[in-house]
Amino acid sequence: MRERYYIEEIGRHVDREVTLEGWLAGKRSSGKILFLQLRDGTGFIQCVASRADVGDETFAAADELSIESSLRVTGTVHADARAPSGYELSVAGIEIVHAADEYPISRKEHGTAFLMDNRHLWIRSSRQFAILRIRAAVIVAARRYFDSRGYTLVDTPILTPNAVEGTTTLFETKYFDESAYLTQSGQLYNEATAMALGKVYCFGPALRAEKSKTRRHLIEFWQIEPEIAYADLEDIMDIQEELVAELIRHVLETRAPELAILERDTEALAKAAPPFPRLSYTEAVKRLNEAGHAFEWGEDFGAEDETVLSKLFETPILVHRYPRMVKPFYMEDDPDDESVTLSVDMLAPEGYGEIVGGGQRAMDAERLERRMREEGMPVDEYQWYLDLRRFGSVPHGGFGMGIERFVTWVCGLPHIRETIAFPRMLSRLRP
Ligand code: 4AD
Ligand code: MG
Repeated sequence: MRERYYIEEIGRHVDREVTLEGWLAGKRSSGKILFLQLRDGTGFIQCVASRADVGDETFAAADELSIESSLRVTGTVHADARAPSGYELSVAGIEIVHAADEYPISRKEHGTAFLMDNRHLWIRSSRQFAILRIRAAVIVAARRYFDSRGYTLVDTPILTPNAVEGTTTLFETKYFDESAYLTQSGQLYNEATAMALGKVYCFGPALRAEKSKTRRHLIEFWQIEPEIAYADLEDIMDIQEELVAELIRHVLETRAPELAILERDTEALAKAAPPFPRLSYTEAVKRLNEAGHAFEWGEDFGAEDETVLSKLFETPILVHRYPRMVKPFYMEDDPDDESVTLSVDMLAPEGYGEIVGGGQRAMDAERLERRMREEGMPVDEYQWYLDLRRFGSVPHGGFGMGIERFVTWVCGLPHIRETIAFPRMLSRLRP
């Protein structure tokens, strides 16, 4: 294979001549010298071209180029402490691969709707580049966390005959002569595979027809969901804590340039180290009330309540034992207090709120079936799920971490929509 050079690895080639293949991200000219901001998908670098070095013809052609024209730039790499990337390229030659039309996105402020309509182009900008690179790093680290600890990756189905997380957010689709639903979570299937393989995880899209228009909700989002046989609530909290700490560490270590582009306060992130406070829902309600925030025991936390609660701490917190009525049918009862469940959500600090949800699963077939009937669920459809409690039932549990929620916090973003390349939202299916 021919040798290729990338901006992120340019430090290996100081004082050598390289050819970079990329796009023009910005341009300044003094008449004699052209400053070209080149991006190649791994980073940004300033390329300095003098008329004397590249010749009149090339200089004039490059000077005319519109932003996002594609180029091959050949030049010598110099270390430059003042440059944001730490390096600069002294240009010897420029090959114009394609002179772009006038680019619709400029440095001036554009409205969100305009940017979202042009999402296919907007993702080229430095902030979006940084977010998508951090997202990818989070996914790599999350998978590595589980892969290196003996979990088996099992892919769960997208098309399912029944609900996991309630019937109000189901996407229905035709499945030949019957109806099917797009998956809301791989959890129920994970519970089956955990009984076959012990420790499993799935990583895939979750689809929910959420009618709420908030900064935290996507219609299509990605979840990483472990499920562990013989795990209890304490184990689940330990795993959540260790996973999130490792993800933060990995992003801080490997994505410093991207965090800098986003001007993320990395000290706040570094503070998010274990141990994470663990408080029961009941204690959390008390803390909210003490902070002067009206909230009644038995309600579910809304975005606003979570924001207030998570601003009281510098690290993520683990809120456990939510009331039965705010959690799904599959949650195990707390043997010490049957009004609450062995559930746990992790709330990110700085007001970001829920990033992880999970808990210990109901183990007894009869009790579980009774609850399903009480909730009006089509019990026949769930016989396979009840079988897991009829054949070698064990305490077990797991959780789901929403990748986009996590990335929103890590990147310090005001809205979840930028954390996925092509967000699906209540009023957005395009592009
Ligand atoms: O709390 P949720 O609904 O839990 C479940 O789906 C469980 N079945 C997971 C499990 O135990 N295996 O969702 C889990 C996480 C949330 O904490 C949140 O991070 C994310 O998924 N999430 C969303 N992210 C973006 N947009 C939405 N509409 C989301 N709904 C949930
Ligand atoms: Mg939840």
